[in-house]
Amino acid sequence: MMDQAQSTKPRFASVKPLAQAPAVCATPLDARHYGAARINVTTLARVATAAATWAKILEFHGDLASDDYVRYVDAFYRDNVRRFGKEWHYLDIVNVLFAAAKAVEPRLYLEVGVRRGRSACTVVRACPSVDIIAIDMWTPNYAGMDNPGPAFVEDELACHGHTGGVVFMNGNSHLLLPRLFAAKPELRFDLITVDGDHSEAGAYRDLADVVPHLAPGGVLVFDDICHPSHPYLLEVWRRVVMENKCLSAYEYTEQGYGVGFAVRKA
Ligand SMILES: C[S@@+](CC[C@H](N)C(=O)[O-])C[C@H]1O[C@@H](n2cnc3c(N)ncnc32)[C@H](O)[C@@H]1O
Repeated sequence: MMDQAQSTKPRFASVKPLAQAPAVCATPLDARHYGAARINVTTLARVATAAATWAKILEFHGDLASDDYVRYVDAFYRDNVRRFGKEWHYLDIVNVLFAAAKAVEPRLYLEVGVRRGRSACTVVRACPSVDIIAIDMWTPNYAGMDNPGPAFVEDELACHGHTGGVVFMNGNSHLLLPRLFAAKPELRFDLITVDGDHSEAGAYRDLADVVPHLAPGGVLVFDDICHPSHPYLLEVWRRVVMENKCLSAYEYTEQGYGVGFAVRKA
């Protein structure tokens, strides 16, 4: 009779030899796999939360605090930087956009949802020469706050040192984006923010419309993925990321309203 040790011995003889693995390839396969991106999302998150990035943001963010919400966030940033210094880990649309614009140096930036220009001015602070297409329907009294429109935002951009061009597209993004891309199917943006329609279907539509127009290596930023008034936005973001394998994505939901961002790999 066989003892226990013998009976459980694996039978290597019955294992088929493995097929030969393909050789490690050199370019152009490597170049395709490694992708066009100059920055990956984890690095972008680290740069966004670095003490040096906060120091630069806090030099100008106080000037953007022209409504109650941004005043609150400005005080929140300063308090946390004072308390936790370089250990403070927090992401939102502002530090992500600032870090992304520094890293990517966008030539062309698309912003859906501009309001008083806080996010657009943040991009301009990092990359003053950027050309901007800014889409907003300027909903009156948005979130209980004044929403003065393109002339106000243009002044703000100039105050923050903008030297590039800006085109305002005033109206509903669900009409304007398809019209823009039908007229210019070749249009590619190095940086895109989606922060307009916060309904489930509307946010999905904006994201689905813009992703094909994100340049390889470009960065997409989606705000408010854990906003208590829009709890479905995290699932919207995840769905878009799942449907677009070209995106490498990151989500931050620990504190504040949260932010999703992604780099287009190829
Ligand atoms: C959250 S605010 C944008 C805030 C801005 N990105 C910032 O960080 O300062 C949203 C803006 O989107 C605009 N908006 C909402 N739905 C829209 C739509 N379907 N088309 C265009 N703009 C829209 C509103 O008028 C509002 O100004």
